[in-house]
Amino acid sequence: MGNSILIRNISHLTGIIDGASKLVKGNDMGRVRSISDAWVLVSDGIIQDFGSMLTVPERADHIIDATGASVFPCWCDSHTHIVFASGREGEFVDRIKGKSYEEIAAAGGGILNSANRLRQMPEDLLYENAYRRLQEVISKGTGAIEIKSGYGLTRESELKMLRVIRRLRQSTEVTVKATFLGAHAVPSEYKENRADYIHLIINEMIPEVAGEGLADYCDVFCDKGFFTVEETDLILTAAARYGLKAKIHANELAVSGGVQVGIKNNAVSVDHLEATTQVEIDALKNASTIPTLLPSVSFFLNIDYAPARAMIDQGLGIAIASDYNPGSSPSGNIPLLMAIACNNMRITPVEAFSAVTINGACAMELEKETGSISKSKSANLIISRPGVTLDSMVYAFGSDHIDKVMIRGKLV
Ligand code: NIG
Ligand code: FE
Repeated sequence: MGNSILIRNISHLTGIIDGASKLVKGNDMGRVRSISDAWVLVSDGIIQDFGSMLTVPERADHIIDATGASVFPCWCDSHTHIVFASGREGEFVDRIKGKSYEEIAAAGGGILNSANRLRQMPEDLLYENAYRRLQEVISKGTGAIEIKSGYGLTRESELKMLRVIRRLRQSTEVTVKATFLGAHAVPSEYKENRADYIHLIINEMIPEVAGEGLADYCDVFCDKGFFTVEETDLILTAAARYGLKAKIHANELAVSGGVQVGIKNNAVSVDHLEATTQVEIDALKNASTIPTLLPSVSFFLNIDYAPARAMIDQGLGIAIASDYNPGSSPSGNIPLLMAIACNNMRITPVEAFSAVTINGACAMELEKETGSISKSKSANLIISRPGVTLDSMVYAFGSDHIDKVMIRGKLV
């Protein structure tokens, strides 16, 4: 018995890219190729072929009838922190009562609160909690994901987080990219001698992380109250010497200089950008670094949204990611994220779709493998419920529009 699967009678096969996949920019973000009344043939975990029902293959080993449904490529979530010990509901309620995210962090809450809890949690339990979150986001259509460390902030606990990420990678069909984020916050024990913590990151953590092959990227939270431009530059330069490419958290809380130092270090992406001016947009125009926006953070923390509209209108290609984490975005639900993005950033569902599929793939350097309906890419497919289109999925926010998710040719 062979293993080919034919998905037939698809109302809208959306997100087709013919030819080489690369970052989609500017006006092109608002264009998507679809075929109505379509089929897709999958075997050996990859998309073998697709077309209009006028040319449907006569035979396959298994048939899925998708009458009325849309089929999309799975989402590519290029920025998450799904390895954490527990939620921070208390801080959420404190914020509702008037405290700011920065005040909570300065008082030892926030990232340091998560670090205290994570340090105490055994690796197996941490893994089980993260695995549950991973399964949850896969059921919402995520087919490739980047996961960061950064709630350990000691050598042992950062390595513990990265080992959990490695176990997640080994136990799922979804492609996982790992990012070392030792420079997420200065831990309280180094409050008075932050240079020593940076020394520890550069001279002990990075060599060990790279030596064990535990990360693809190195990230720094370059922002007001966290790491300075100079510190960020030192850390990213050291990481590059060990083969870890740069990513960056920048301009969430203030115009931090993080975009520029990210570009200087050839960062694959600079992420957040809620506090962004025309200067940063201009800098990004001359760079290959991808601006990655995290609109659920703006929703959850009640802060400004990154200027997605201006970026696209000025020709940039943006990615959008969930930032799933316990402090600023306790959700990895991409259809809901697209609704938040469209309504608040005034971008269209097609632009949001480009940002969470092919451009998210580019922000993880996975564009050859996933992020579109293309021959010989992984068969990472979302089959919607009948009657759902891209526009209606984003419009009817919060409903469950997904019927089936296929990862590498297997229904999950
Ligand atoms: O991407 N901004 C920095 N780091 C995370 C949030 C961390 C936290 O609050 O736990 C973010 O928003
Ligand atoms: Fe983040």
